[in-house]
Amino acid sequence: MNQRGVTYLEKKVAGQVKSSFPLSSLTTLGVGGIAEVCVWPSCVRDLVTLSSLKEECPVRIIGGGSNLIIHDGIIGGVVVCTKYLSSFSVIRETDKALITVEAGVPLAQLVNFGLKYGFAGLEFAVGIPGTLGGALIGNAGAQGEAISDLLQWVEVVDEHHQIRRLDKNDISWGYRYSQFKELHYTIASCCLIMEAVPLTIIRARTDEFLKMRSAQPHGYKSAGCIFKNPEGTSAGKLLDQCGCKGLKVGGAVVSEAHANFILNTGDATATDVLALIEKCRKIAFEETGYLLELEVQLFSSLE
Ligand code: EPU
Repeated sequence: MNQRGVTYLEKKVAGQVKSSFPLSSLTTLGVGGIAEVCVWPSCVRDLVTLSSLKEECPVRIIGGGSNLIIHDGIIGGVVVCTKYLSSFSVIRETDKALITVEAGVPLAQLVNFGLKYGFAGLEFAVGIPGTLGGALIGNAGAQGEAISDLLQWVEVVDEHHQIRRLDKNDISWGYRYSQFKELHYTIASCCLIMEAVPLTIIRARTDEFLKMRSAQPHGYKSAGCIFKNPEGTSAGKLLDQCGCKGLKVGGAVVSEAHANFILNTGDATATDVLALIEKCRKIAFEETGYLLELEVQLFSSLE
């Protein structure tokens, strides 16, 4: 995008616009190149403006940047960071709460809401980083539960740059899958329903999920689980059995705690991470016959 494009965006968009922005700072893995232009929309009208740019240049969206590998080098077009789409409103009824959140709200904020006021449904999400927008696209979940279970409706900017409200059943959902992966929509907000349940029960369920996560690496830069679990088994277990723990390419290493995590030891590049992913996938295929599918999103695939 040239300077004229940047000036146009600065006039049209209420949120912040920055040129030559390092995207590694917006991802939990800490790798990735430089965005030609990065925009932080502050309202749904900004999303409409940014959607209409798709006719001119690539427009890519980053939520919490937690399940994402951004390639190295220059990222052309516009990168949209949803961080400031952060409104959160609640209608409380005796037996449930209807919660309307914008795409940039962290999943953790909803988990904490449930834990504080006694509304259940999101205990499985404790410790899952990322935003509601990203969680919906990947249908984030754990142990057979997923964000789509609580969903009422989603508001999107569609491919014609119109704001539309979709019911949960207008979209297909699966394990780490939503149809949003194929539709060229931008998620603006959604409404979730949580059930009123005694706090002691919610706390106990949350603790169970935290315990399940205790074997995962903490305090490291990572993108969460790299591969989806093949039906009936765990990708981490397979990779561990194949001896992948500790494998390295440049600054990227397979976690010793959980083999489905790749860690950035400090100076990893996206090229290192992607090479390590391919190495693990090849080893797993040769030794077990399973061709592991990526769970993480690659930015380049959205071009
Ligand atoms: N295991 C090993 N070695 C390893 C990793 C796991 O032997 O290196 C074994 C474990 O001991 C356990 C089994 O494999 O017997 C399953 O492991 P775990 O409980 O860690 O679950 P997972 O199937 O590897 C899934 C999700 C995680 C989620 C956990 C806990 C996927 C791809 N992964 O992991 O989600 O946190 O269950 O609920 O579905 C993510 O989405 O980024 C993610 C990490």
